Amino acid sequence: MDTITPEPRPAWIAGRPEQGADTLLVTHPFDGSEVATVAVPGPEQVERAVAAAVAVAPEFRRSPAHVRAAALEHVSRGLAERAEELAEVITAENGKPFKWAEAEVRRAISVFRIAAEEARRFTGDLQRLDTDAGGEGRLAMVRRVPRGPVLGIAPFNFPLNLVAHKVAPSLAVGAPIIVKPAPRTPLSALILGELLAETELPEGAFSVLPLGNTETSELVTDPRLPVVSFTGSGPVGWSLAEAAPRKHVVLELGGNAAAVVLGDWPDLPGAAARIATFGNYQAGQSCIAVQRVIVERSVADEFVPALLDAVRAQRTGDPYDTTVDVGPVVDEAAAERIVSWIDEATADGAKVLTGGKRDGASVEPTLLSDVPEDAKAWADEIFGPVLAVSVVDDADAAFAAVNASAFGLQAGVFTRDVRLAFRASTELEVGGVIVGDVPSYRADQMPYGGVKGSGSGREGVLAAMNDLTEEKVTVFTGIEL
Ligand code: SIN
Repeated sequence: MDTITPEPRPAWIAGRPEQGADTLLVTHPFDGSEVATVAVPGPEQVERAVAAAVAVAPEFRRSPAHVRAAALEHVSRGLAERAEELAEVITAENGKPFKWAEAEVRRAISVFRIAAEEARRFTGDLQRLDTDAGGEGRLAMVRRVPRGPVLGIAPFNFPLNLVAHKVAPSLAVGAPIIVKPAPRTPLSALILGELLAETELPEGAFSVLPLGNTETSELVTDPRLPVVSFTGSGPVGWSLAEAAPRKHVVLELGGNAAAVVLGDWPDLPGAAARIATFGNYQAGQSCIAVQRVIVERSVADEFVPALLDAVRAQRTGDPYDTTVDVGPVVDEAAAERIVSWIDEATADGAKVLTGGKRDGASVEPTLLSDVPEDAKAWADEIFGPVLAVSVVDDADAAFAAVNASAFGLQAGVFTRDVRLAFRASTELEVGGVIVGDVPSYRADQMPYGGVKGSGSGREGVLAAMNDLTEEKVTVFTGIEL
């Protein structure tokens, strides 16, 4: 692909393309080849982006819904028209297999379409106040108004769609957004900037700033940006929340998602195939990739060999090869860390059933058993193509194992028993339970987010629109209901 251009790809400052004070080189995780350079804005440009967001906020929040919806629809259409180019760029900068990059583009198209639909519906509520004698003749109108300009900080693992989940809901509610893509994967976000710049959005409604961590920290504490929406690692997320205690901080953090296979599940090879696929998709670099596999003893003898076969069947290699399932992780340092966690687990008694090694940034699809509960490969977020299987006596023990985690993003439970499904829904300490499938299922309109160490607040288009706004009440008096 041909992304290296003579000029670095421009940043978007208050909706306009600009070269920066510095440049950043983007490389392909599979082979380290150079992909592109991008403009890194300097302090004066960052200041202009923030000042423009603040200046346009009052006008933008009052802009007609159809104007915002039209801009969002335009972006959705533009993403569809440029889908192949975008998928190539995602694979180039992130290293995920092309088929997963295509899936990501399809999702981003939907996110903008859904945001356009929700922008037209987003209205508020009426609340009757004559429920007690003192409220007779009174009615409350409850509107949702933007909290203010948003700082969106996006991760590398979905360089387009997790940027879309910051940008689309902000624009849908009329809140200006400054988005900071991950330094390793800024290209998709900059192309999104091109599509946004083709719309009638007012100047300052969006900026895309590929910044380093120091400059981003200054934005996090800048009081003019009252909302920070962060997706990324737990330590960074919680430190941002501490650095900005008076702000509304949304944290979408990691997890060590569990898939539970209960004894009544009729298709064990099918469950094994889904778990192997979604422990390894994007080389495990999804916050809801399966990491922990908890299987009821009554079916373990059939299920574990089926899982081993399914993990071994994952095809590794060049992510541009459309038959490849597992590409590299984001860089060699990440691969080294993942293998060190496998080694630590085996030193403490775990068994490697398959995999366990790496070549550069590519880690073999790995299945571990007998991993001690306090080993990082079980207790922390490995963010690599590594599954750990544990056999338990019954559903009670399985649910207890899911909950014995510092995280709580999503869990998958393979059962056909409706009572166990309801128990899972009630008892599992997570933001989402998927019955009959892996935890890695996310539809972009669903509320999405975690409990415990997995964060606070929710994304998913409408959930994010609610989160980025606050209720404002107007009471009408002396009226006939
Ligand atoms: C994430 O890694 O948190 C996002 C997962 C997804 O959007 O599918």
